[in-house]
Amino acid sequence: MARSLQSSFVHGKCFPTSETSATAFKRCLFPSFIKCCGGSATQEHAAVGGEMVALARDAVRRSRLPEEILVKSGGNFGRFGGKYVPETLMTSLAHLEAEFYLAMDDAYFREELEAALKDYVGRETPLYFAQSLTNYHKDGNGYGPEIYLKREDLNHGGAHKINNAIAQAMLAKRLGRKSIIAATGAGQHGVATAASCAKLSLDCTIFMGSQDMERQSSNVLLMKLLGAQVKPVDGKFKDATSVAIRAWVENLETSYYLPGTVVGPHPCPTIVSQFQSVIGKETRRQAMQKWRGKPAVLLACVGSGSNAIGLFHEFICDEDVRLIGIDAAGFGLETSKHSASLSKGEVGVYHGAMCYLLQDAEGQIVGTHSTAVG
Ligand SMILES: Cc1ncc(COP(=O)(O)O)c(C=O)c1O
Repeated sequence: MARSLQSSFVHGKCFPTSETSATAFKRCLFPSFIKCCGGSATQEHAAVGGEMVALARDAVRRSRLPEEILVKSGGNFGRFGGKYVPETLMTSLAHLEAEFYLAMDDAYFREELEAALKDYVGRETPLYFAQSLTNYHKDGNGYGPEIYLKREDLNHGGAHKINNAIAQAMLAKRLGRKSIIAATGAGQHGVATAASCAKLSLDCTIFMGSQDMERQSSNVLLMKLLGAQVKPVDGKFKDATSVAIRAWVENLETSYYLPGTVVGPHPCPTIVSQFQSVIGKETRRQAMQKWRGKPAVLLACVGSGSNAIGLFHEFICDEDVRLIGIDAAGFGLETSKHSASLSKGEVGVYHGAMCYLLQDAEGQIVGTHSTAVG
C-alpha cells in the first residue's frame, strides 16, 4: 500500500583530480587556515592549522551524519559525486567541509537551526491524507493505496528549498561571509535563499535564466521584495549556475555560493542532503503517529534531486520501503523532448561532480525539454 507521495565550467566526460577528497581535504585546509590568520606560513600557524584539521576530523567522528556517507566515501557515492574542480576551488571547498562538520557537532548551531526551521520556515509540515486522490485510485473492489502528501509547499517561500537555504546561510555566517550567490530555475531556490539572507542580514545575488525570469515573474518580484538582486543570464538554469559559480570564484574570500540541490562538488551534495533530510525524518515520525507504521512506497519528482533525497535519505536502509524517483518524460523517452537525465542519461562530469547527464558524443550538455521552467 502506498502511504506517501511528494507534492561549466568543468563539464562533460570526466576530468578527474588525481587525489581522493580526503587527501585534498587535509592538504587544502592548511593554506586556507594560514591565510585566514592573515600572516605568512609560520610554524605557529601551521600548528594551529593542524589543530583545526584534527578538530574537524573529530567532529566527523562524533557527528550524527551516517558514517558511510562522511568518512568512508569522502563524497563519492559509488562512482558518483566526487570533486572535479579547478585547484583554485579546493581550499574553499575544504574549508566549507570542515565548517559543516564542526557546525553539525555544535549543539548551539543545531538548536539555532531547529528554532529557525520551526519559527521562520514553519516546520513541521503536515503529512496530509489525500482522500479524493485515494478514492480516485481505488479499484472496483475498493482496494488501492492510501495516498499522503508531505506538504513541503507550506514552508515559508512555498517549497522545500528553504530547509537547505536557511541552514547553509547560517554556515556562511559562521564562515564570516557577507554575501550569498545562488542560481535558481523555477525561482523557488531563489526565494528561499533571499528569505534566508533577509533573516540573517546577508547580501543576496540570484542568477536566473532570462526566459525563466519572465515565466516566473512573481518569484522574481518576491526575491526583490526580500532584498535580493536578481541578475538575468542568457540561457537556462544550467547557464545561470555556471555564471553564479564564476561570480563566486571571483570573490571566494567574501562570498558564499549556496547550492539549492544535490549537485556540485563534494561537500555540496552531502550538505544539501543532510539539511533536506528533515523531510524524511518528519515523515517517519508522522507515519508512526498516524498509522503506527512506515510508508510502503515513497515517491518524489526528481528535478535536480533535493526533495527526493530529502524524503528518501531517512529510509535508505529500510528494505521494506520502496523509493521511487520520477524523471520528467516530456513528449516521451523515445523523443528528444524530455528531461529524463536519470532514465536516459550517460555518466559524465558536470558542475564538479560525476552524475547522469543528457550529453552528446563530445560530452556537451544537450538541451532538455520541460513544460516547467529551469
Ligand atoms: C517546488 C519544487 N519542487 C521540486 C523541485 C525539483 O527540484 P529538486 O529535484 O531539487 O527538489 C523544484 C525545482 O525547482 C521546485 O521548485
